Amino acid sequence: MTGDWQTTPDNLEISTRRVDVWLTSTELAEEQVLEYKKLLSGAELARAEKMAVAVKYKEFVVTRGLLKQMLSRVTGLDVSALHFIHGEHGKPCLAGTVAGKNVAFNVSHSHGMALVAITLGNRLGIDLEKIRQEVEWQALARRFFSAAEFRALSRQPDDCRIKSFFTCWTRKEAFVKAVGNGIAYGLKEFDVSIDPGGSTGLLNIRGDIEEAADWVIKNIPMNENYAAALAVDSPGCDARLWKAPRY
Ligand SMILES: CC(C)(COP(=O)(O)OP(=O)(O)OC[C@H]1O[C@@H](n2cnc3c(N)ncnc32)[C@H](O)[C@@H]1OP(=O)(O)O)[C@@H](O)C(=O)NCCC(=O)NCCS
Repeated sequence: MTGDWQTTPDNLEISTRRVDVWLTSTELAEEQVLEYKKLLSGAELARAEKMAVAVKYKEFVVTRGLLKQMLSRVTGLDVSALHFIHGEHGKPCLAGTVAGKNVAFNVSHSHGMALVAITLGNRLGIDLEKIRQEVEWQALARRFFSAAEFRALSRQPDDCRIKSFFTCWTRKEAFVKAVGNGIAYGLKEFDVSIDPGGSTGLLNIRGDIEEAADWVIKNIPMNENYAAALAVDSPGCDARLWKAPRY
């Protein structure tokens, strides 16, 4: 874990001006996984039981459990009172408002790590990817990235390209997850910066710079094996980084 990940305070208040992000390993000891499992509904347990690969099972149970634990903490609702509904493309959200407030969240898990993000009243997407040096960057970038992104990536020095590839990938995924459409949005419809150090994540939407300015895409600091990004439709929004509390 790198970056300034703090201990979650008991009295955390979510806000329209912030996104609260929790990081956890999902490769936890059996007893910790069991604690998260206790927070899952019957339908969620049934979904988990269908996962034959242990890593995937733990990713789902720990991520969903942590999400419900944190939603319960910030809303004051009992875990059993949290009900999810799904958008047309599968994006889960809380059914109804909580005390008149629109609590929004998104999660991502990859190769034993997970991120949970919660905010109030904003559209929000988060994406986490393991950086795989052997990735077929050219074929994937040609298929999924815009022409401008592909050109920018091709111009990168060899030793920077894979990091830039995953920077681009996570920024694009975070954005389409915030919109809620997944890849159905059309991944070539917008350009992101592939520069991991750049301050502007989203460059334009269908060529429109002003529409892009309604959004912010932030890097989430991870260790050198992962890349992660957060997209939110509130440019002034800050991200607060929390370590997942343990039982
Ligand atoms: C779900 C989706 C949006 C992201 O999938 P992913 O990157 O494999 O998975 P992540 O771990 O980042 O996110 C999964 C979580 O997103 C949430 N989710 C599901 N559908 C979603 C949607 N349409 N929008 C936003 N979030 C969604 C769920 O909470 C899910 O968690 P769960 O499976 O534990 O319930 C998927 O539909 C998708 O678009 N995959 C495309 C991947 C790809 O080829 N990208 C091209 C590179 S840019």
